[in-house]
Amino acid sequence: MKFFVDTADIADIRSLAETGLLDGVTTNPTLIAKSGRKILDVIAEICAVVPGPVSAEVAATDYDGIMREAKVLRAIAANVTIKVPLTPDGLRACKALSSDGAMVNVTLCFSAAQALLAAKAGATFISPFVGRLDDIGYDGMELISDIVQIYDNYPALTTEVLVASVRNPMHVIAAAKIGAHVATLPPAVLRSLYAHPLTDKGLATFMADWAKTGQTIA
Ligand code: G3P
Repeated sequence: MKFFVDTADIADIRSLAETGLLDGVTTNPTLIAKSGRKILDVIAEICAVVPGPVSAEVAATDYDGIMREAKVLRAIAANVTIKVPLTPDGLRACKALSSDGAMVNVTLCFSAAQALLAAKAGATFISPFVGRLDDIGYDGMELISDIVQIYDNYPALTTEVLVASVRNPMHVIAAAKIGAHVATLPPAVLRSLYAHPLTDKGLATFMADWAKTGQTIA
């Protein structure tokens, strides 16, 4: 499973890139606003830190506007992935951009029918938002399971399922069990994957027992 981080905070991205476990980055207009920075500047800096796909979302909602903004974003770096909304104009633009060799991440997906359309439009990634479905009493992970099942029926489909709106480690494990290709994680959720009290306890015991030997490894 590929791990992307869902943030535009460059300090978090630099820190997590050092783990060697970061495969890409996703941003959205809310995350860009939270960064307090100009989108072109922060996306350029992220692309220089993380060589994998970096999703930059258009602000336009009409086809011509999306295509115009996508041209600007693509010029930033080769690993920029254009993020478009799952709308008729967004998927029309997805088809045109993917046909032109651009990576496209289709976002705000909340149904299997939408995911099927995005795959037919040549999306590189589809972003189903599991947390936001859970938030209103639906089973977000059931959507992931449906999409993976549908895509697996058509080997010619190359769209990768990028699980988004992840709220906790259990979302990550459930998505991995289903076989989703990618999960994009808030920094805090990614860091929480390391944590287990028995690991901490066991390491403390090993260190205490090692100290008793009076040895050093040199
Ligand atoms: O960036 C796309 C998605 O991961 C955002 O999800 O629900 O945390 O805003 P959310």
